[in-house]
Formats: sequence, C-alpha cells, structure tokens
Amino acid sequence: MAERDMARHLVDAVIADSPDHKRGTRPAHTIGIGVKGHFRASPVARDWCVAEHFCGREVEASVRFSNSSGSPVQHDGWSDARGMATRFHLSGGGATDLLAMTLREFFSATPEDFLAFAQAAIPRPVEPPRPWRKIADMLRLFPPLPDPYPGQRTSSVGGSMAYSGLHSASQLAAFDASFLGAPVSYARATYNAVHTFIVTAPDGTERYVRFFWQPAAGVEMVNPDLPPIDNYLQAELRDRIANWPVEFLLLMTVGEMGDPLTDPTKAWPLHRMRINMGTLCLTEVPDDQQAHCEQLAFNPGRLTDGIAMSDDPVLIARKAAYELSRELRGGAACPFDAV
Ligand code: HEM
Repeated sequence: MAERDMARHLVDAVIADSPDHKRGTRPAHTIGIGVKGHFRASPVARDWCVAEHFCGREVEASVRFSNSSGSPVQHDGWSDARGMATRFHLSGGGATDLLAMTLREFFSATPEDFLAFAQAAIPRPVEPPRPWRKIADMLRLFPPLPDPYPGQRTSSVGGSMAYSGLHSASQLAAFDASFLGAPVSYARATYNAVHTFIVTAPDGTERYVRFFWQPAAGVEMVNPDLPPIDNYLQAELRDRIANWPVEFLLLMTVGEMGDPLTDPTKAWPLHRMRINMGTLCLTEVPDDQQAHCEQLAFNPGRLTDGIAMSDDPVLIARKAAYELSRELRGGAACPFDAV
C-alpha cells in the first residue's frame, strides 16, 4: 500500500478509537501540557553517538506530556498509557524529536496489524461491576477485566484483550495497558521510545539501540484501591516545576545479537547494557500553551545526523501518519526539515 494511503488508514483507525474525537485536536494523546527546559549530554554520550545533542553543548528542549487517549475529556486518574514527546532544538533552527510512552512495548509489529488491533479496540459499552459476573468469568477462566470507573460507559479494554487472546504479539502491550493505572505525576513515570534506532559513533560504528527516559524523582503510581481522582496531572506538574526543576535521565539500551530489531511488540531483556546519554532538566511551563503545546507537532521520523530509523515497519509508517495528522489538525509545520 502506498505510504500516504497507509497513513490515512492509520489516522482514521486512531480517530475511530475515540468516538468523541474533536476535529482540530490530536486524534491520540489529545490532553497534554507543554513544558520547556534544556538537555545536557553526559560525558560519555559523544563516544556512542555523533548526533549534535549528544556532543556536549547544552541544547534547549520542548516537551509535551500527555494522556494517550484520543478523548478530549481529561480523566487523569483512569488507567492509560502516558506520553512524553521531546524536541531537542539544534543549531541553525534544526530539531530532532523523541516520542516515548509508559508502555514498554507496542501493540503491533506492523502497520497492517495495528489496523486490525485498532478495529478490535473500538470502545464498546461496559456494564457496572457485578459480583456474579466476576465469579462466572473466573470459573470460565476468562481474563479478569478492570472495573469501569464511576461514570465510564465505554471501554476498549474488553476488545483489545479479546484480540490479544488470539494474536500473541499484542499480548504484552494489551495486558500492560489494561492494568497500567495512573502515575501520581507526569514526572514520576518511565517513558519508552519502544522502537529500535541506529546510532553512529565517532569511529563510524553503527549500533542498534533503544531509548527510554528514567525520572529522577522515581516511579510512583496512584494507589488503585483509592477512589480515582481526575484532572490533577497538569496542576501537579505546574506546582512541581514552580518549586524545583523536573529531571529525567535519557538512557540508551544497546542491542545484542538476537534481539528483535524491527519488532516494537518485543521489549529487549532488562539486563542489556544501558548508556547514560544525558539529563533533561525542565524548568518552565510556558503561559502560551497554544503555541508551546497544542500547535507543536512531533514526529518520530524527525531525526538528525548520527541517528537513523531501523527497518521497523511501524516506525516507518508513523512518520507519514504523524505528518498527515498534523496537517489535518492544523499543527505547525517544522520549517527546518523535510519530514
Ligand atoms: C501504528 C502506530 C501508531 C500510530 C498510527 C500512532 C498515531 C498517532 C497520532 C495520529 C498522533 C497524533 C499526532 C499529531 O497530531 O501531532 C499520535 C501522538 C502520539 N503518539 Fe502515536 N501512534 C502510533 C504508535 C506510537 C508509539 C509506538 C508511541 C510510543 C513510542 C507513540 C507515542 C505517541 C505520543 C507520545 C504522541 C503525542 C505527541 C504529542 O504530544 O504531540 N505512538 N500518535
């Protein structure tokens, strides 16, 4: 299928998963907050990758934290993956983006599989929890589903879990997403870029790597036994940054022989070597959230010399899909690159 046609199908599929999607907004990760700061490479980063932001000079950074749902209704307290999109501002007005989320793996290994998964995950009506239903499900060995939240009328969890029962590649992400919960703060979650990238070292050596952000404040989730609270994540981040910078460590996992290089449904083993590539320090929540959050358009294909995409078909398809999504919602084009 032509790249642009697949992009259209992907964006349509994402929109279909959020029936209350509002035109002019992001069809996924709709609710978010933009923050600013800087990134300083670690002393060893330049030995591993020649990309400009890893070569010592501090660079400005724009970050957007988000809830992954495409619904315009916030529901911070609901179980959902969270996103962290980072733009590193480079010399001459250039930029490179890194998009990450709180799941360790993705739902699908190809864009075609994602279309089928998204179809299965279209939200369906949910019933309030009933004890007899839980017992019947337990006896039939049905996987337990999380109870709907107060006021929740539809959910994609049943559909995605049923799909993953038949498609093993989707299982890890679908199970993780169903029971993930909510972080106490956007600053207290680990965000994974999921795909494999190829970095070039100063001697020309190319390595397969994956990136993730580790929060300096540590990881903490909301206690699932307490009643869910809504709409706290943005205020919490504002308070936190007003008092002290929020820091994240950028870690790069180096792949080894046999690691899946083109499949984002498979996380790499936890004991792989990780390189500390630098520290992101977030210091400001800009007042103009329209310009510094809503209008921004990140793209996982916006890379710079020294970092290249692997042959991961999902990563490749995302490049055109995000550009189409940006066009559809009227986001600002990046004038300095040809994404
Ligand atoms: C086939 C796979 C995927 C599709 C079709 C897809 C689609 C989209 C779309 C259409 C948007 C809105 C873009 C915009 O209007 O600016 C978006 C946002 C986003 N996606 Fe994905 N996505 C996919 C996979 C992923 C993966 C694997 C990750 C994590 C590594 C991810 C993380 C994000 C984040 C963090 C945002 C919000 C960016 C922002 O704050 O502007 N997505 N996605």
